Amino acid sequence: MKIAIVGTGYVGLVTGVCLSEIGHQVTCIDVDELKVNKMRAGISPIYEPGLDELMKKNIAAERLCFTTSHEEGFRDAEAIYIAVGTPPREDGTANLSYVEEVARSIAAHIQNYTVVVTKSTVPVGTNYRIKQMIAAGAEGRAQFDVVSNPEFLREGTAVQDAFQGDRIVIGSDSPRAAQIVEEINKPFGIPVYHTDISSAEMIKYASNAFLATKISFINEISALCEKLGANVEDVAAGMGMDKRIGSQFLRAGIGYGGSCFPKDTKALVQIAGNVEHEFDLLKSVIQVNNKQQRLLVDKAKARFGSLADKTVALLGLAFKPHTDDMRESASIVVSRQLVEEGARIQAYDPIQPELATHLLPQEVTLCRTLEEALAHADCVFIITDWPEFKTMDLAKATQLLKSPVFFDGRNCFRLEHAAAHGIEYHSIGRESVGAEG
Ligand code: UDX
Ligand code: UDX
Repeated sequence: MKIAIVGTGYVGLVTGVCLSEIGHQVTCIDVDELKVNKMRAGISPIYEPGLDELMKKNIAAERLCFTTSHEEGFRDAEAIYIAVGTPPREDGTANLSYVEEVARSIAAHIQNYTVVVTKSTVPVGTNYRIKQMIAAGAEGRAQFDVVSNPEFLREGTAVQDAFQGDRIVIGSDSPRAAQIVEEINKPFGIPVYHTDISSAEMIKYASNAFLATKISFINEISALCEKLGANVEDVAAGMGMDKRIGSQFLRAGIGYGGSCFPKDTKALVQIAGNVEHEFDLLKSVIQVNNKQQRLLVDKAKARFGSLADKTVALLGLAFKPHTDDMRESASIVVSRQLVEEGARIQAYDPIQPELATHLLPQEVTLCRTLEEALAHADCVFIITDWPEFKTMDLAKATQLLKSPVFFDGRNCFRLEHAAAHGIEYHSIGRESVGAEG
C-alpha cells in the first residue's frame, strides 16, 4: 500500500522504515528540512540500532522516500499516519497543536478514501476530534476513517520492537478501516487486538502508566531494603518469578526518564482530573520518581558532607542505554543539583547526545572518553547503565580517580565485584561496600 507518515521522530521514522521493509510504499514527511535532507541521504537523525541499514536498503529499493511537502506526501496515499510530537505543556497536559495542524492539512489534501492512522500518543477522545476536524475541512470532498494505532516501541530497541512486539492495537468504529490497518501490519505477524477508539487510546496511557508504576514501586521497595538491610536485586528476582508479577520493569535505579513515561503519566493525571477523578496512585508514582532522581546527590552529600569543589565524573547522559535521547534524563536533574552544590562535573556518554550542550548547565565539562571523565575525580556518578560502564575496568578506574568512591544509580556492579576491587560503592537498594566505618 501507499502510506504517508507525518513526523519523523523516534515514532514516525521507525514506523515508516519498518513499514517499507515489509513492502509498503512509504513517504515520510517532516517539517524540519534539515532532517529531511539528512534522511534522503540515508542518514538517520536519531540513533536507533539497526535503523540506518534498513533506511538505506529501502531507499535503494525505492520503497522509502522523504519530503517536507504534505501535498507531495499525501498524493495517492491510501493511509496517512500521524506521528508528530505530543509534548507536555507546563501543566502536564498534552500539546496537541501539531496533531491538529496535521489533521487540518489532511482535510485540505485528501481526494480519495483515506485511512487516517494516529500513531502519536493522544488523550482519550482526541481521535474523535481529529475525525470532526477532517470532516469539517474536507467538506465531503473525500471519504475517510480514523484509526487509533498506538505504538509500544522502546527507544534503543525500537526496530526490534516493531518486528517482535507483543500486540498491535487497532481502535476504530469503521470495520473497513480496521481491516485495512490489520492488512498493513499482517507481514509483521504480531497478534492484533481490535477495539473501539477510546479504549485504544486508553490502552496506550494505561500501559505506560502501569510500567512506570512498577518502576516506582520497586524504587520504594529499594528505599526500604536499604533501611532494613535487604538486597533489592534479590527481592526483585524473587518477586519476578511469580508470573503474575513478571521480572521486567522491576529494576531499581535513579528513576525513569525519556519522552514517554514522564509525559504520559502527567497527561493521564490531567485526563483524569478533567473528568473529576483524582488519580492518587499515579500522582504518587510521579512523586516517587522525582524523589528518586535526587537520591545520588543526597547519598554523596551524606558521604562527603559538602560537594563544594568536589569533582564528579558523571557517567551517562541519555535516559537509557542505546539511545541518544536525553529528554527527561536523570542526568539533567543530577547535573543541575551538583552545580547548585558547587561541584565540578566531568560528563561522558558513549553517544554524546547533540542535545547535551544545551540541556546541561554550561558548567558541565563534556569529556570525549571515559578515562577523561574519571581523571582526578573525587567520585563517580553512574546515571545510565551503558555496557561500557557495566564492563568498566575498576582497577584502571581506581588509578585514574582521586578517590575510588562510586554512587551508582543503575546498580551496574555486583557487590562482590565492587568489594573485590576495593572501591567504595554506594548503589540503590543495597548495602554500601568498602565504605568507611
Ligand atoms: C513523541 C513521543 O515520544 C510519543 O510518545 C508521541 O506518541 C509522539 O511524539 P517522537 O517520535 O519522539 O514521539 O516525536 P519527536 O521526536 O518529537 O518527533 C516529532 C517529529 O515531528 C519531529 O521530527 C518534528 O520535526 C515533526 N513535526 C512536528 C512535523 O513534521 N510537523 C509538525 O507540525 C510538528
Ligand atoms: C517506554 C515504553 O517501554 C514503551 O512501550 C513506550 O512505547 C514508550 O515508553 P522508553 O521510554 O523508550 O519506552 O524506554 P523504557 O525501556 O521503557 O525505559 C523508560 C525509563 O524507565 C528509562 O529511563 C529506564 O532507565 C527506566 N527503567 C526501565 C527503570 O528505571 N527500571 C526498569 O526496570 C525499566
